[in-house]
Amino acid sequence: MNEKDVQAQWHKVIQRRSFLKSVGIATAMLPAGGLLATGVKAAGSSAQRLNSGDAAILRFLAAAEIIEVDLWQQYNELGGVDGGNAAYVAALQNLDGDMQQYITDNTDDEASHAAFLNAYLMSRGAEPVNLDEFRKLPSSKAAGAKQIGRLTNLRKLVVDTSFYTRYRSGANPDLGATARQAVNIVNEPAIPLNDTETPPDTDQPVPPTTASARRMQAIANTAAFHFGYIEQGGASLYASMSLKVTDPEVLRIVVSIGGVEVDHFSVWHDKLGNAVSQPLAGVVDPMSGVTFPDLNNPGGELAQTNKIFPEPTRFIEGLPLVSVIRPSTTANAGAVATIKSFTADLLFDGQSKEFFARVMALAEAADAAKRRV
Ligand SMILES: [Fe+2]
Ligand SMILES: [Fe+2]
Repeated sequence: MNEKDVQAQWHKVIQRRSFLKSVGIATAMLPAGGLLATGVKAAGSSAQRLNSGDAAILRFLAAAEIIEVDLWQQYNELGGVDGGNAAYVAALQNLDGDMQQYITDNTDDEASHAAFLNAYLMSRGAEPVNLDEFRKLPSSKAAGAKQIGRLTNLRKLVVDTSFYTRYRSGANPDLGATARQAVNIVNEPAIPLNDTETPPDTDQPVPPTTASARRMQAIANTAAFHFGYIEQGGASLYASMSLKVTDPEVLRIVVSIGGVEVDHFSVWHDKLGNAVSQPLAGVVDPMSGVTFPDLNNPGGELAQTNKIFPEPTRFIEGLPLVSVIRPSTTANAGAVATIKSFTADLLFDGQSKEFFARVMALAEAADAAKRRV
């Protein structure tokens, strides 16, 4: 789904909502089954209005998905199937020939998550989430980027790469463990910033031979780690939220979308390994000094690039190690933890106080939700 389709879908949602209002049907009084944005009856949708906890969970997840759509769209414009920046595309393809397709499909998935969650909220008499007023951050000036306002900033990231060692280790952050960074990616762009430092017609050989090729490869490598970082966060967030849900249909939604976040993480976890293995390993950004070492030399349990499946970890005290998504507690993987992590990532660098207040209020409400028995 391209951005136009997302907008069209969103407008359909809004139009339906104003139509209901104009004919005097309060959204809180939608009939059994509800009306979905598409105008069809919501098969299997419960007659009752959502309880406040389930609504808060879905509203935060809708916000998180809107944020994901915003960042994935930026990657997609520059490096997706119709990506408009040839050198960025070439640098991504040095990581895997399918990168363009994966970026576009991940973008489509997030757009479907955001649109579905908002439509579902409305079908159950709850308010949808709209962050449009905060789309004010500037776009990249590089060839391929649309000049529109953004929610997120990919121009200077501090990517937390500890997920890489965490999933290769038996230590679990929910039981107090910490994992070290796999690569130190500090203040590095994940998209090209302009056509001066990274001209879009630059050749991107492996290994890169010119300063602009090295800069662009470091940017593409940063993107690859950022993809893994974002989607492992999604995997943990959905696991955490599922523990708080009351309504079985809401639980079905949370675990079903959460499974796709896990799927995304797993693919990116595999692809990003190509930035830190031969023949590409060793790229140094000539401007920032950010370095992508060969993690297979000397390798080992916490570094080897092809050890992408989660190592069994401590999970419940007194029981054997088990291969699971981690973290999953509210403190480490909940809504507030997610926003704090995205903030530390500098994903929201330049955003307004009002933006932080809005997303933190949504996050706190979601974390406060409790499963009702
Ligand atoms: Fe998503
Ligand atoms: Fe995602």
